Amino acid sequence: MKNLILDVDTGIDDAFALLFAARHPEINLLGVTCVDGNTSLPKVIKNTMKVLDAAGAKAIPVAAGATRPLIDEPRYAEMVHGEDGLGDLGTPDSQRALDSRPAVILLRDLIEESSAPVTLVPLAPLTNIALFLRSFPETAKKVERIVLMGGSAAGGNATATAEFNVWHDPEAAAIVFNSGVPITMYGLDVFMKPLVTQKHADALMAKPEACSQFAGKLISNFIKQMGPEVTLGDYGAVLTALKPELSTRESLALVVDTTFGPNRGQTAVDRRSFFERDDAHTHAPRVDVCLDIQTDVYRELWLETIQG
Ligand code: BDR
Ligand code: CA
Repeated sequence: MKNLILDVDTGIDDAFALLFAARHPEINLLGVTCVDGNTSLPKVIKNTMKVLDAAGAKAIPVAAGATRPLIDEPRYAEMVHGEDGLGDLGTPDSQRALDSRPAVILLRDLIEESSAPVTLVPLAPLTNIALFLRSFPETAKKVERIVLMGGSAAGGNATATAEFNVWHDPEAAAIVFNSGVPITMYGLDVFMKPLVTQKHADALMAKPEACSQFAGKLISNFIKQMGPEVTLGDYGAVLTALKPELSTRESLALVVDTTFGPNRGQTAVDRRSFFERDDAHTHAPRVDVCLDIQTDVYRELWLETIQG
C-alpha cells in the first residue's frame, strides 16, 4: 500500500486524479488538502467533496488551505475548467464535512500519525506545501517524496515559458524545490500524453456505476470545451507516485524564475551534458524530472480503476 496525500485545486483533471487515488486498491489516500488555483478555494472545496462522493470514497479528511498565492493575486483558469471549476455539470453538493484543521495542520498530523512513509502529491499551485514545509520543518523531514504536477523542462502553458501551477505561485514553488525533500516533477513534458476521447467517455457513461458515469460526463464535457482528445492531466502524477517504473526520469538541476520579467514562473531545467559551469544551476537542487511515460499503460490503468 502506498500512503498518499493529495493537494488539489479541483479542477477537471484534479478530479481524474482524485477518482483514481480514492479507488485504486494499492493507494491509501490519507487525506486531501485544497488550495486556490484553477478556481477560488470555496469552489475547490465543493468540487473536491463532489468528486470524493462520485468515487464512493470512505470518510477521509479534507482541509482548506490558502485562498491566494504568497505574493501574487490569484489568476484562475475557468476558461479551461468551467465557471464552477468542474465543467459546469450541475453535480449536486456533497454532505461531507470539511475538517476543522487548516491544511498545514492536517498535513502535519497525517504525516506524524502515519506508521508508514507518506508521499505528498501536489496537483496545484504549491502555496499549501510551501507553508507546510516552512511551518513544520521537522515533520517535513519525514516526507518520503513529493511527486508534483507542475513545471516543464521545455515550454509553458500559462505563458510561453511557465506552467500554470508554478506560474500561479512562483515563490511557493521555489520554496518547495529548494526544501531538500526528494522531488519528482511530473510536468508539461508528459502531462498531455495520456489522452482520452469521446469513445472512452461513451464507454464509461454506458456503465451503471456512479463513478464511471461521472467520469464519462466530465470527459465528454471537457471534449466540448477543449477538442476531440483531452488529457487525463494531473492523474499522471498520482500513477507516477504509485508506479515510478512506468516513467523515464532524469535527475536534473532546476531553478524557478521568481523575477518579475516575461519568464516569471519558468522552471529552468539544465539539460546540458557538461558540468564545468558557473551559473545559477551550479548549486541548484536536483529534481527527478519525468521526461517520458508509458502512455498507453497510464490511460488503461486509469480506465480500469474507474470502471472496476
Ligand atoms: C495544471 O494547471 C491546472 O489547470 C491543471 O489542473 C494542472 O494541475 C496544468 O498546467
Ligand atoms: Ca490541478
